[in-house]
Amino acid sequence: MPAPQAYSPAQKLLHWGFALLVFILVPLAIAMTNVGEGPLQNQLYEWHKSFGLVALCLVLARILVRLSRGAPELEVGIPTWQKRAAGLSHAALYGLILIVPLLGWAGTSACCAPVKLFWTIPLTLPISGGMAMGGPILTVHTIAAFALVALVALHVGAALHHHLIRRDGTLRRMLGARTAT
Ligand code: HEM
Ligand code: HEM
Repeated sequence: MPAPQAYSPAQKLLHWGFALLVFILVPLAIAMTNVGEGPLQNQLYEWHKSFGLVALCLVLARILVRLSRGAPELEVGIPTWQKRAAGLSHAALYGLILIVPLLGWAGTSACCAPVKLFWTIPLTLPISGGMAMGGPILTVHTIAAFALVALVALHVGAALHHHLIRRDGTLRRMLGARTAT
């Protein structure tokens, strides 16, 4: 399959929609684990879990679009090591954005059922074991989520480097300045 000329509108929408959710989910998670027990903490947990499940749906859609359509070749003139670094970091980002919500969902289902989408649709996974099972899964969820934050920081740094220093079209092609063919 030949590489497309540009990211499609769906790819851009899913990229920025997911990024927005992560920028909401991480501060929400830090607040909910630090606020102290009570009704506010319960509310924050419910928002985090529900938006986390919405994020998982976006990731699945994103992976399907990526597998069916591919991605445009990198800008011309980028050194080979940077092409490899971009390929590796994008693969790692895809891996983390998939496993972070899956681990959150699995851990919460094991330790703290029921999981409900926005207080309504029951979505608990059939995982038993209580806190002995759910606790370690949620610890890995937290570590993977902070690894994702670190990788996103590098990713944003790379995007800004391309835009401000190399002055190439890398950031613009994810922003919508170029249309897909
Ligand atoms: C992309 C999606 C997600 C991101 C980026 C994310 C991020 C985070 C982060 C950063 C923390 C650690 C907070 C801290 O300890 O300071 C956390 C904790 C937590 N997350 Fe998520 N999360 C996501 C999805 C989910 C989902 C889908 C669920 C459940 C359905 C979930 C349930 C939890 C729970 C229960 C904790 C608390 C863990 C504990 O108390 O040790 N998360 N999340
Ligand atoms: C949670 C936040 C983010 C995640 C998980 C993420 C993830 C990704 C992934 C996986 C790709 C590869 C797309 C593909 O080949 O299918 C990508 C591309 C891209 N992202 Fe992000 N991104 C995030 C936030 C951002 C932000 C804040 C910026 C800009 C400041 C940005 C700029 C870009 C650009 C310019 C590309 C295109 C790179 C290229 O074509 O070589 N991303 N992103």
